[in-house]
Formats: sequence, C-alpha cells, structure tokens
Amino acid sequence: MNSFISRCNTMASCDSGSLSEEFAVPSHVEEVRSVMAAFAEQHGAAGRMVVLITSGGTKVPLESRTVRFLDNFSSGRRGASSAEYFLAHGYAVIFLHRHRSLYPYTRLYTGINLLDCLTLDTVHGSGLVTVDQRKLPNITEVLKRYQEVKSAGLLLPVEFSTLSEYLHLLKAAAQALSSIGSKAMFYLAAAVSDFYIPASEMPEHKIQSSNGPLQISMKMVPKILKPLVKDWAPKAFVTSFKLETDPSILLERARCALDTYKHQAVVANVLDTRHGYVVVVTKDSQKELVLTDEEAQREVEIEEKIVKNLSHAHTQFINQKM
Ligand code: PMT
Repeated sequence: MNSFISRCNTMASCDSGSLSEEFAVPSHVEEVRSVMAAFAEQHGAAGRMVVLITSGGTKVPLESRTVRFLDNFSSGRRGASSAEYFLAHGYAVIFLHRHRSLYPYTRLYTGINLLDCLTLDTVHGSGLVTVDQRKLPNITEVLKRYQEVKSAGLLLPVEFSTLSEYLHLLKAAAQALSSIGSKAMFYLAAAVSDFYIPASEMPEHKIQSSNGPLQISMKMVPKILKPLVKDWAPKAFVTSFKLETDPSILLERARCALDTYKHQAVVANVLDTRHGYVVVVTKDSQKELVLTDEEAQREVEIEEKIVKNLSHAHTQFINQKM
C-alpha cells in the first residue's frame, strides 16, 4: 500500500437516506432542483457545457434559534472569479454560493461605497443621477460582460447559508445535472464544515454565559464527495479543492482525496498563498500553477489559469467518453 494511502483519513461518507435524517431539508429544495434541471437541459441542448461552482463557507448553528454559529473561512473570491472565467470559456454556470459572499462581476467593486460614485443633479433639479466612472475601474467593460451573460441566461445563482442547505442543494444540483452526463462539471471551491451538532442535541435557546465556560462536542459531517462521485453524478467531471495551512502535507492530502473518492481533479492550495499558487492534481499528473510578479502586477488572476487547465481536461474527458 502506498504510504499516502495508509495515512488517508477514513471519514464517514454519507448516503441519501442519512443526509435527510441528519440534516434538515430546506423547504425550497424541490423548486430549486427543477430550475437547475431546466437550466441544464436548455444549455445541454444548445451544446454548452455546464459547471456547478460552489463558493463561500458553510455556517453551522450552535443553537436552534441561532445566535451563534461556526463558520468556515472563504470570502468567495475563488468561486466568483472562476465563474467569470468559465463563462468566458463558453460554459453556463450554476453558482451555488454563500449568501452575501463575493459574486461574479460585482466582486470587482467590493469595498467601494456605491453612493460615493454617484452624483445627483441638484443644480437643475432634474433628479438625474450620474456615475463617476473613474471611481469604478473598467465599469463599462464589466457592465457589458455582465449584461451579455444575463441576457443570454448563462448564470444561475443559488444561495445557501447553513451546512444543511449546502448539502441538500448540492445533491439536488447533482440530480439536476445528470441529464447532461459528462458535459457537467462540479467545481467544489466552497469551504465546507467537517463538524456539526445534530438537531436532536442542539439547545433551543441562546446558550447562557452565566453557566460558565462553553464546552461543545460536535459530530463529524459525512464526506459528501463520496456519494456525489459514486451515486449522484457518476458521469460528471468532478473537481474538489484541498485547503491546508501546512504546505508540507498539502500534496499528500490531495492525493488521498483523489485516491479515496476517485474523481477527476483536486486543486490543492495553502491558505496564505492561495491567490498566487495552486497545484492541480489528477490521477496521472501534477501541474503547478503560479502567478509571476509581472502577472500579479498586471492583475492576472490565478483562477484564469485554473479554469483554462480544467476546461481543457474536461473537454478531453468528454471526448474520451464518446
Ligand atoms: O473563497 P476564497 O477566500 O477565495 O478562498 C478559496 C478557498 C481557500 C476556500 C478554496 O480555494 C478552497 O480550498 N476550498 C475548499 C476548502 C475546503 O473545504 O477544503 P477541505 O480540505 O476541508 O475539503 C476538501 C473537499 O471536500 C472540498 O472540495 C469540499 O467540497 C469537500 N467536502 C468537505 C466537507 C464535507 N463534509 N464533505 C465534502 O465533500
């Protein structure tokens, strides 16, 4: 046995039954599933590939009437910028993202106060509002791209906040995309909790600090990648992400994930360097993607390279299946 295999952790995986038993089903899941299915069918029939991008961090409540929760870190930048590059490569995109995390195109203006960019004509009293384009870099180009994508119906946003919502919506997306087989790609950039408190063990009301220091015990979240690859989307091209803070274990963990789940690619990244360096690991290859200083100065983004690499691999995957 390879040494890395023996060190792979054997976290429980999840089947369809246990998902509904352990995690509350969101009330709108069926409605979202049919919208996603119609989106996939429409774009599949037009010969387009469809990518499901997950983005942002999941939230795990500590109380039923939630005041406090455990959050996984992710700004959503990776997912939002990748969505733009997939659209540029001709994909239709389902963007399953954490409520209020970064969003394609608008992410470019994060931190800018919109009201500071607008002027109201008070001199002539026309009520006309003008935009100071110098305060919104490249706004005409970005707006043009956004409107093209919107009018062609190429971007379908779906929101989640809690881990339960994420898990059920991801499963619904996999079922919705099954009609297009290998033309579907899953790009799992969201940061998903490994721990949760089952509803039956969760206090209903706000935990009282007057009871002293807080000790909580959390259960392991089953790895959703396993049923996704094996049962829900067996024909699709699946890319997961592996995030570590210790670079020395990164590649070993990425290889473990590939070996365990038998999907197509893992994008391995370290928290501090994630915007300038990743490794795309597949069964037979390992490709480092790096931003040079000159590229960083020109504001090239590493997601452009990741998406170019994966969309090429996806096309090869589709051709092999034909
Ligand atoms: O959003 P940014 O700020 O730009 O940051 C981007 C990022 C660092 C969040 C992103 O590049 C990234 O690495 N995302 C994956 C983070 C993560 O959850 O890694 P992990 O090692 O805990 O999980 C690995 C994979 O298992 C993930 O693809 C996840 O979808 C999957 N998983 C995780 C938990 C779980 N219960 N089931 C799963 O299937």
